[in-house]
Amino acid sequence: MVRDETTPRLISPRVPFGELNLDKPLKLGIMASGSGSNFEAVAQAIADGQLNAQIQVLIYNNPDAKAAWRAQQWGVPAVLCNHREYGSREDLDRSIVEALQRHQVEWVVMAGWMRVVTPTLIDAFPDKIINIHPSLLPSFKGVRAVEQALEAGVKIAGCTVHLVLPEVDTGPILLQAAVPVFPDDTHQTLHSRIQTQEHLVLPQAIALAAQVNS
Ligand code: GAR
Repeated sequence: MVRDETTPRLISPRVPFGELNLDKPLKLGIMASGSGSNFEAVAQAIADGQLNAQIQVLIYNNPDAKAAWRAQQWGVPAVLCNHREYGSREDLDRSIVEALQRHQVEWVVMAGWMRVVTPTLIDAFPDKIINIHPSLLPSFKGVRAVEQALEAGVKIAGCTVHLVLPEVDTGPILLQAAVPVFPDDTHQTLHSRIQTQEHLVLPQAIALAAQVNS
């Protein structure tokens, strides 16, 4: 098989940014638990003039998350909501809602947020929370999505951007991108191929969601 790691293989039709006329900048709040490469992709799309938005705040839950460092580089305020310091998921989400509202966020983007969210958060931003997940939903929900795909032996994997409903990794699908799975793939090689696509579709899905539900 000829390998082509660069050509996107999109299942959903790509939405040209030019057709997404957002007349006023979206006020985004981004939630991330780890590396924050998707945070970076959104920030870069904004800087490149592809997405009319502003990142008001980054919420992160792991003190050593690289996402916080990236936020600092981009001049974005970062708020640590460390789940270990809260007695329940609802308490954590109350604190997150408070931080998002304090920063006047309109749209919430879960970009590598590895905690289950509760109605406390979901009801505060009805139909305005977006999640990115490294599988072609509804396959391989939950944690270890890339490992699940490898274990299942699928030949095509990918990522999904969707609106968030209370059930984990469920909600109306905005965009998906598919990538091939090669026989010698490891978690790392497959996840990296999927992430290349995530960085393309996430900014587009944000614009799409905002246009559909403004
Ligand atoms: C991304 O691949 C994202 O799809 C995944 O975490 C990674 C975060 O990467 N999200 C989930 O698994 C949510 N269930 P990043 O920190 O480099 O953006």
